[in-house]
Order: sequence, then structure tokens, then C-alpha cells
Amino acid sequence: MSFDLVFFGGTGDLTWRKLMPALFQAFRHGKLPPGGRILAVARDDRSDDEYRSFIHERFNDVESSKRPSEDEFARFAKLLHYRRMDLSQPEHYARLKAWLDERGADTVVLYLATSPHLFPVICEQLGAAGLNGPHVRVVLEKPLGHDLASAQEINRVVRRAFSEQQAFRIDHYLGKPAVQNLMALRFGNALFEPLWRRESVANIQITLAEDIGVGTRGDFYDRTGALRDMVQNHALQLLTMIAMEPPSTNDADAIRDEKLKVLRSLKPFTPESVTRDVIRGQYRAGTIGGKPVPGYLDEAKVPPGSATETFVAIRTEVQNWRWAAVPFYLRTGKRLAERDAQIVVNFRPVPHPIFLGATRANKLVIKLQPEDGLELHLLAAKGTGNDELLTPVSLDLDFDKAFPTERVGAYERLLLDAIAGRLNLFVRSDEQEQAWRWVEPILEAWHRDGSGARPYAAGSYGPPAASALVARDGYAWAEEF
Ligand code: BG6
Repeated sequence: MSFDLVFFGGTGDLTWRKLMPALFQAFRHGKLPPGGRILAVARDDRSDDEYRSFIHERFNDVESSKRPSEDEFARFAKLLHYRRMDLSQPEHYARLKAWLDERGADTVVLYLATSPHLFPVICEQLGAAGLNGPHVRVVLEKPLGHDLASAQEINRVVRRAFSEQQAFRIDHYLGKPAVQNLMALRFGNALFEPLWRRESVANIQITLAEDIGVGTRGDFYDRTGALRDMVQNHALQLLTMIAMEPPSTNDADAIRDEKLKVLRSLKPFTPESVTRDVIRGQYRAGTIGGKPVPGYLDEAKVPPGSATETFVAIRTEVQNWRWAAVPFYLRTGKRLAERDAQIVVNFRPVPHPIFLGATRANKLVIKLQPEDGLELHLLAAKGTGNDELLTPVSLDLDFDKAFPTERVGAYERLLLDAIAGRLNLFVRSDEQEQAWRWVEPILEAWHRDGSGARPYAAGSYGPPAASALVARDGYAWAEEF
């Protein structure tokens, strides 16, 4: 199956930082289908060779295990092409079409790695130029909207030129191996599913903690904030995977129908419940890994006095028979104590304890990063003669060790899926809009309430109010007990 992959925004950060390294890994692993061409388009004039040199140099900024050798790059570079394009000029699209038609690849993937404000003009021009035939797919990179209305507008524009089956909306968390493993854990094994419900589960915690700050993206981040940047997409997608009903098949729409039902079942927010169940924070100076780091307001390009949140903790519920009254806690933030993304399923304690001492309920920890694995926490008798007191033990599964050579990174996986036309790990427009519908009352309540974000020290786990949110139900975050 031959393919042409076109990157709009071909010289941008996303392309050289994430997409080219991911494609190179696919190439190195022999996973890229043969007969492929990669075309970068951008505003400035370059030859194919100049573009290849540009990408070659950029690979120096990629982690060393992912850098090509000279020989590998020389082979990979043969796939790379470059064309100058002014995205507002119809004749430039006609030229692109001629270039693609000349070869007539089986599949054409158009990856919009540009700022989203260019999506409308690009989609419109692609449609007008006839670059939207059934063999064409369009990949849309986040941020997909700033609120419900802008997300709907992007979807309207995309729909004018492409069908839903042609639209591949990226949420790179869905490409992470641990997230795919979550599907395998739940629907490829019979063990947990009978327990995966309110009768056995006390609460579920989703933490997406980062130790990095906003870096050089202060201006973008300040307009966005943690709720839009991490919760509306990544955290909610994880929640849907945890809470969904078993799909009837492993097909994209069977899965996405079930995920949509979860999003529709999330307890809607009111101004009162936002005040009660949503905590926003902003980091102040602190220490991470022994090094002092500045506060958010001292970061480059952050406007003075900004009230933008760099941390959010939310308590919500999935209002259906399976999950009624089970708290789901979501939490994400920058400059937290460590980089740690995990989902903790806290089970209910035994109904009638017969052993002495404190008992601990079982928990299953699904680790997304930095490690990718599972931990099942149990209680055991040590066999030292005093087995009345049980000892906490855990069964650990490290997927990187279990599958040492086979692992594929998130962007690599998603690019290969887009080329192959597999939509399972991409977000459908109705899911994306429903997620916006759910977060919008939070944005509105914050807009009205001038009290701003609560300060927290860099290197902590967020403001103390986030602990109080969980303690109110008689629970604690995973690192607190
Ligand atoms: C992106 C956000 O979507 O995800 C970034 O815009 C964030 O702010 C990043 O740092 C986190 O991704 P990962 O894969 O490093 O956890």
C-alpha cells in the first residue's frame, strides 16, 4: 500500500520535535509501509536537500536513543520532500494536487500541524482543490477549539470538505502503549471486569502530573490553562476508557459510541458544584529534584498578574448503574513533585475484617509514565509466626520489560494508524464536543469568579485544597497514604 504523508507546518516545532522522530522510529522498526513519501510544506523557499539538512540538524535535539546514524538518516532522507506553499493561495493547492496525482498513491494523509486558526482556510482550500477524495485522510492536531463554540466551528469547517471517517483527531494520550493496554486489561481478560463497578470500587483517581513548567510556551499556555490543555482532552479520554461499557467489537465506532456515553453520563457542573468540586492552582517558586525553579508569574511570556491555572483537581461522578455515587478524581498540573501519570482504582475494603491491625483495601495502579505497567496491591501473611498482622505486598508488571523490543511510541503508533486508516485511537467530533460541553460551566464559573487560582509551591502536589477535596469523601490521593 503506497502512501503520501503531507505535513502542513512542515518546519514547525511539532513536526521536527515529535512527528519526524516518530516517523523515523517507524522507519527504523520496519513498520512504515513501503512506497511512502513524506512531503513537508511551509511558507519559506527550500529545496528537498535543504529541508533534509534542516531535519537532520534538528535530530540533534532529540533524545539520543532516537537519533539516526548517518547511514540511517541517508536512507530515511530519501522519503523526505519539501514544497513551498502559501496556504491562502488556491493555485498552491492545485500544485500540491498535481504533485500527489502524478504518482497516485493508494492513501494520502494530510497532517495539519499548523496553528488551528489556519484549519478553516486549509480545509476549505483542500476541498476546493479536490484534495478530499475517499483515499484522503486529514489529521488534526490539538488544540481543537478553545471552547464548545470554537470546537463546533472547526468541526463544521472540516465536515464541509471531509467525512467523519476521513477525520483523524489526535489525542496523543490515546497512542500511549499503557492506554491501549487498559483496553486489553479490561476487555481481553475476564478477571477484573466483574469487579469493575460500584459494588467493588470505592473511587478512581486519574493523575497526570508533570514536573516541567510552561517552558517557552508561556504565551500559548497563559491563554489556555490546565483545564483546556490537559483535562478537556487527555484526562477525559482516560476517564472514558476506564468507565466505558465493553464495546461489542473492537471497531472504532463501537468503541467511540461507548466513550461518548460515558461523557454524556458525567455529572454536569453548576456554579455551586464548581466552587465545591473543582480546585485550580498556580505554581509559585519552589524546588524540584533539588533545583530551585521560578514561579509561573516569573516565566517568560506570562503576563504580569495572570490568573491562569497550572493545576486542576476535579471530583466528578459517572451517573449510570455501573458507577452511581463512585467518586472519580482527576488531577493534573505543571511543576509538581514528579512526572507521574497514573490511574488508581481503589477497591472497597473487606466487609468483615478478621485480621488484627490496620487493613488496607486493594488497589490497582495503572502506570502510564514514566514507567508503563500495572501494580496490584494486596495484603499477605508473612509466614513469620504472627500471621494475624497482614503485610502490604504488590504484584508488579513492567511492560517495558515484558515486551522489550516491541514497544511503539504514541506518535509513531498514531501516524501508522492514520496511514492504515484505523480510527480506533482517534477522537470523534461528538466526543470532542461533549467533552467541551462538560468543561464549559467550569470555564464560565471561573470567568465570573475573580478569586483566581490558589498558589502552590513548585515541587508539591498542588494546593492543599486538592487534598481536602478527596478527604471530604474519606479518601486520600495515592501518595498520601
Ligand atoms: C500536551 C500539552 O498535550 O501534553 C502539554 O499541551 C503537556 O502542556 C503534554 O506537557 C504532556 O504530554 P506527555 O506525553 O509528555 O505526558
